[in-house]
Amino acid sequence: MNLLADKKIKRSQEPMASAATPDLDPGSQTAEAADRYMSRGSGPVARARTQVAAGLKPAAGLPDLKPMFEVQDLNLYYSKFQALKHINLTIPAHQVTAFIGPSGCGKSTLLRCFNRMNDLLEEVRIDGRILMDGRDLRGPQTDVVELRTKVGMVFQQPNPFPMSIFDNVAYGLRCQGIKDRVYLRQVVETSLKKAALYDEVKDELDKNATKLSGGQQQRLCIARAIALQPQVILMDEPTSALDPIATLKIEELMNDLKKEYTIVIVTHSMQQAARISDKTAFFLLGEVVEFDDTVTMFNNPSDKRTEDYISGRFG
Ligand SMILES: Nc1ncnc2c1ncn2[C@@H]1O[C@H](COP(=O)(O)OP(=O)(O)OP(=O)(O)O)[C@@H](O)[C@H]1O
Ligand SMILES: [Mg+2]
Repeated sequence: MNLLADKKIKRSQEPMASAATPDLDPGSQTAEAADRYMSRGSGPVARARTQVAAGLKPAAGLPDLKPMFEVQDLNLYYSKFQALKHINLTIPAHQVTAFIGPSGCGKSTLLRCFNRMNDLLEEVRIDGRILMDGRDLRGPQTDVVELRTKVGMVFQQPNPFPMSIFDNVAYGLRCQGIKDRVYLRQVVETSLKKAALYDEVKDELDKNATKLSGGQQQRLCIARAIALQPQVILMDEPTSALDPIATLKIEELMNDLKKEYTIVIVTHSMQQAARISDKTAFFLLGEVVEFDDTVTMFNNPSDKRTEDYISGRFG
């Protein structure tokens, strides 16, 4: 048992225990909202709200961050089925943005638009625009291979290649023609450190990656994405196949990673969205019903459907 992780898990439970005395300005809107929601129950969502209301992610005082993606009236069709309807939202750089919503509402579909993965499907038709750093992602000047280097992706199931840990992380660089062993070694080491895996694997970089635990494999996949020096890391339910300790490690990692990268994560866990994200978008039937600071979304949702979903009344 990793004692540090164990300790952190216990610490992460403390806000639940001390929910009655959140450290808040009693006159603030957040404090009132916290009181209102705390009186509604003690389930996981109530606890997540308490954590948010307890000031873990203050909305006030956030710097005015520059946009990484600006989605403008985006519609996406799989043949005749419209999976995304008039999506408008701006993903800020160096923040964690969470997509939540019931199954089949278009979260992964929108995520895949950010690195044009949907281009691989013939039946997909898209209109509207996504700007990245102000440039049209789907414009003729966008090189898709370069885009997928800039916008890395981590999937629900860890998918290490059946080769060594070292070769997994070096894979993308080798594909770019880089052979310098010293340079590769440096990047592999740095990427594994940033993915908080290095200490666990530094003596066995030649070990086959498929022999790592699920949580280690997922951090390896994050290291593989980091090795290409992306600007953005997309994560589609990256912890849903992991146990709570591995999940916690990945969540802690995200807080560090956002200093260097922009993170967009799909999650079915409201607690996770509340713990790790700065912004949350709530999807329903192909629409973004609400998009706001996570604090606001969980404490004071503006749409009844958001309120119903995060209260567990549907979905
Ligand atoms: N390749 C595809 N061809 C046709 N329809 C698709 C395809 N991929 C997704 N869809 C449909 O588009 C809608 C949105 O799917 P998507 O995978 O984006 O949902 P999601 O919100 O990520 O769901 P989940 O939470 O279950 O992962 C669903 O109705 C789904 O059936
Ligand atoms: Mg999905």
